[in-house]
Amino acid sequence: MYVCLCVGVTNQTVANAVAAGAKSSKDVAEVCGAGSECGRCRRTVRAIIDSRRAAEAPPQDPAGRERRRPSTPANRDGAPQLPGRTAD
Ligand code: FES
Repeated sequence: MYVCLCVGVTNQTVANAVAAGAKSSKDVAEVCGAGSECGRCRRTVRAIIDSRRAAEAPPQDPAGRERRRPSTPANRDGAPQLPGRTAD
């Protein structure tokens, strides 16, 4: 789908620019030109940037904290392996 009609840039091209490191609509404009003319597409470009960032962010629990891997080794069932016990 075309995002920027002035320059003829698609959402995939914007997504590729974000994957390559573009972090703002200004960065995207420098990479592929989207948003560099009339600016009507910048809102959509920013939405694509936010969407890609959200997809790349680590999962969070409902309280908004970042999930971490348990530091305790787990057995085959995923339960923590307690000290003094051997894995099944
Ligand atoms: S529609 Fe993208 S700069 Fe005009």
